[in-house]
Amino acid sequence: MAFKEIDIRQVAQSAVKLINDDWALVSAGDETAWNMMTVSWGGIGELWGRDVFYLFVRPQRYTHEFLLKHGCFTVSMFDGGFKKEMSFCGSKSGRDVDKAAATGLTPVFDNGFVYLGQAQTVLLCKTIATQKLDPAGFLDASIEENYSSGDYHTVFVGEIVKTLKKI
Ligand SMILES: Cc1cc2nc3c(=O)[nH]c(=O)nc-3n(C[C@H](O)[C@H](O)[C@H](O)COP(=O)(O)O)c2cc1C
Repeated sequence: MAFKEIDIRQVAQSAVKLINDDWALVSAGDETAWNMMTVSWGGIGELWGRDVFYLFVRPQRYTHEFLLKHGCFTVSMFDGGFKKEMSFCGSKSGRDVDKAAATGLTPVFDNGFVYLGQAQTVLLCKTIATQKLDPAGFLDASIEENYSSGDYHTVFVGEIVKTLKKI
């Protein structure tokens, strides 16, 4: 479960495959309380002169509370593996179940960040902006179909402060 720090530009895979196809686990919290959830929307890019991760989280997610409280998060990526575990973490809430105990995924606590030891690549992100999506800006009317209960995502823009690769 050892990792080495790399430059984000050394991540060789397509960002679309890495996150949108292979999925990822977003985690936030500390040794006393933390949570993780599966994401497949969002991505890596550049904003305000910084390398960033764009995260879209609906307000009812338990993880949403941890994201707001801690001001930082991690993105653990698995190169196409651990889909069974990520399906579980993407369908159960940490309010109801201990996802780490249920899946065998192990948290690594690292200076205010928490990520998963089984990951192949991890992004450690400091949240630099949050904003609720405003449907007034949806130019394609079909986007609204994603929000039958009005639960518009909160966008978290995380500055990627460290990238880790499994050794
Ligand atoms: C493949 C997949 C991708 C998902 N992507 C997102 C996402 O990008 N944003 C989001 O809010 N929920 C997403 N979800 C749903 C959450 O992971 C799910 O509601 C989870 O149970 C929330 O857990 P929590 O309540 O412990 O935070 C996704 C679920 C799956 C299975």
